[in-house]
Amino acid sequence: MRTVHTIAELRARVAAWRQAGERVAFVPTMGNLHRGHIHLVERAREQAPRTVASIFVNPTQFGPNEDFSGYPRTLAEDSCQLEAAGLDLLFAPAVAEMYPRPLEEMTAITVPELSGLLCGASRPTHFRGVATVVGKLFNMVQPDVALFGEKDWQQLMVIRRLVEDLNFPIEIIGVPTVRETDGLAMSSRNGYLTAEERAIAPTLHATLAASAERLRAGERDHQRLAEEAKARLAAAGFRPDYFEIRRARDLQPPAGEQDEDLRILAAAWLGKARLIDNLAV
Ligand code: PAJ
Repeated sequence: MRTVHTIAELRARVAAWRQAGERVAFVPTMGNLHRGHIHLVERAREQAPRTVASIFVNPTQFGPNEDFSGYPRTLAEDSCQLEAAGLDLLFAPAVAEMYPRPLEEMTAITVPELSGLLCGASRPTHFRGVATVVGKLFNMVQPDVALFGEKDWQQLMVIRRLVEDLNFPIEIIGVPTVRETDGLAMSSRNGYLTAEERAIAPTLHATLAASAERLRAGERDHQRLAEEAKARLAAAGFRPDYFEIRRARDLQPPAGEQDEDLRILAAAWLGKARLIDNLAV
């Protein structure tokens, strides 16, 4: 595995593979890697003979009072894991390489319809930051295929829309959420949990699973289901942000019985950590 820190080195490496006619798969991350990330790399290797990952804690997707400065940065450990997973190329740029001008002066990408709801309601600039950095990374790497986790379902939908609207010639693959044995979705932010909170955390997945089960059993009152789920989370010690049953693709509230492709999405604070999770119905 090679690690590069500049766009020029990244482009040179990938260009050599392209010239040899090799397909390239790409996995963007913010590092502090866990088995969920590594699973994406393993799936990427099934897609193409050449794999690229990025590690970049992207300042533009963090709000002013969020955890940008405290976000765990563990490049040495991450590199070992990526090397063991068989990755070819790691791109780990500095902030100045990605954003050479003051952030507020840089061109940005907005995906309007999907960015203001759910996580976007409490994090109003988050998805603009995600769409912008992923758009930039796509132009730098120019992969044939890119892989994203379903754990961040809204992000995956934003990326699909970005690629469609701006005609990126890149196939987007969504990868199912990798979980701990007790159901908790793996996340770099789980590291913020105390031992006591960690014991409570699987309740988020359990509540989603119970709600999905009730919907499958014919429950039609989505409002009541969501209110009960939030009450269960609050009783367990969470501060729920949202708990919503939405159409999987456009994240809008379902119009009626004909909407079959539903997803339950939730976000809740537990101590210092804001946890998110979602399930197909
Ligand atoms: P990060 O949170 O590091 O996640 C990188 C990728 O790993 C995302 O596609 C995410 O959905 C996926 N992922 C995280 N936890 C997972 C799990 N338990 N199972 C499966 N996949 C999982 O998401 C980001 O970084 C950033 O927003 C990024 C896209 C890199 C843009 O900055």
